[in-house]
Amino acid sequence: MEKNISIAVDGPAGAGKSTISKLLAKQLEFIYIDTGAMYRAITYKALKLGIDTQDETMYEFIDDTSITLTKDNRVLVDEHEVTEEIRSTEISNNVSIVSSIKTVREKLVSLQRNIAEKNHVVMDGRDIGTNVLPNADVKFYLNASVDVRAKRRYLENSKKGIESNFEQIKQDIIKRDYLDSTRELNPLRKADDAIEVDTSALSIDEVVNKLIVIIKRKVEQ
Ligand code: DC
Repeated sequence: MEKNISIAVDGPAGAGKSTISKLLAKQLEFIYIDTGAMYRAITYKALKLGIDTQDETMYEFIDDTSITLTKDNRVLVDEHEVTEEIRSTEISNNVSIVSSIKTVREKLVSLQRNIAEKNHVVMDGRDIGTNVLPNADVKFYLNASVDVRAKRRYLENSKKGIESNFEQIKQDIIKRDYLDSTRELNPLRKADDAIEVDTSALSIDEVVNKLIVIIKRKVEQ
């Protein structure tokens, strides 16, 4: 059987990973897997259950939790759609703690590897190139300055009609970067063989075109 192709896209919050990865997947006709959405979905359930999210022993619920990412990028927890809810500030502010729990990571990483074994994928997250798919065909690390990333989130919110405070978004991003890159298990880190792209001064199309050229060159080698 022919081996499936995998593209890993890592980087900090707001670097453009999901927008870019979705477009890459569409052009390449691969499946897009948003691993951050999976951690958000577990966070949604943990908050719904009202558990102490810092307590590792409270995560037994994970064994009978199902997470589904549909082909049109909707997210289901136990068959219930949570696509919009998982983007809330409350989830964003709790997801770093939940994603640092060992049982949560083990379950989701195994799910992610399973999907990549069966499909051509563009997978975005924090530890895809370093941990989930260390043998990915192409690895990218997208980055942008904190100001640019906070501005993007602020504009995204405005577009959705959500009023937000730029300084607060910036502080939340700085805090999440810190938690994601200093946690013990599979922290956010550029894989040694990942190609780093700073998206601060580039348009979405410019980034997508740049990555497509690199992918075609690497995969056709
Ligand atoms: O990409 P995002 O902002 O939706 O990710 C939400 C959180 O999930 C992020 O702050 C850290 C965690 N995460 C992770 O630990 N590992 C991944 N592969 C993806 C996300």
